[in-house]
Amino acid sequence: MSPIQLRASHMLRSLLKKSRVLSCLLVMMGCHLEPTARADEASQEKSMKTEPMKIALIVGSVRPTGTADKIVNNLKRVLDARTDIQTELLFVRDYALPFYTDIIPPAERTEPIADPVLKKWSDAVQRADGYIIVSPEYNAGYPASLKNALDSLYKEWNYKPVAFVGYSGGPSGGTSSIAQLHQVAQALKLIPIAVDVKIPQSWKAFTSTGDLGIFPTVQQELNHVVDLLLVAHHAPQSR
Ligand SMILES: Cc1cc2nc3c(=O)[nH]c(=O)nc-3n(C[C@H](O)[C@H](O)[C@H](O)COP(=O)(O)O)c2cc1C
Repeated sequence: MSPIQLRASHMLRSLLKKSRVLSCLLVMMGCHLEPTARADEASQEKSMKTEPMKIALIVGSVRPTGTADKIVNNLKRVLDARTDIQTELLFVRDYALPFYTDIIPPAERTEPIADPVLKKWSDAVQRADGYIIVSPEYNAGYPASLKNALDSLYKEWNYKPVAFVGYSGGPSGGTSSIAQLHQVAQALKLIPIAVDVKIPQSWKAFTSTGDLGIFPTVQQELNHVVDLLLVAHHAPQSR
């Protein structure tokens, strides 16, 4: 190895823990990785390959209409077919979260959460590596129940990737509610990915057995969304 290559190797070694791309570059430059760097890279690759990403599928609708359930059943069919992720279903309606009234904003929370319901919600959100949020459209927005569930926490969301699935009675598939969710996600320091899944005309979107008429499209789009969530999850992070 030439002195320049040796120097480059040393400088980049510390960065290797954070970047697989750099290790590829080093190899392309003809630099030999030192054993510790190789071990770091190998263990990083191993964990990327062996540990499925934990994705929480968060369902914002709390109405007992059955629409959200049918949507979720279709989404779960796609998600459960993958071995690179593990999906946990979180229905906001199961948490009966109180409207957020604490004086201290969640971003400034330093004490453990006292409210048992909020604590349960916090734990569920915390243990996920990323999220797919499913939301109906109400009056060109998303439900207040979902906003309250999002606002009740802060650090639990930070720096994790998120994607959105919208549905609506009209033809937009929840375009407005998804656009608003993108803005809110940024404020929560989530990492919203650029691809959304939209299901229009929810009142006639299902067959008699509950399958989405546009299942093949949703399947393709959702798999793309998951691929992007995985890329964001495995990307090196700087905070
Ligand atoms: C209060 C309310 C407002 C709605 N506003 C819209 C709207 O602005 N645009 C739209 O396309 N559909 C709208 N819809 C239709 C819903 O998006 C649609 O029925 C959806 O399937 C409801 O989901 P849910 O049963 O999970 O609540 C509205 C429904 C409700 C209850």
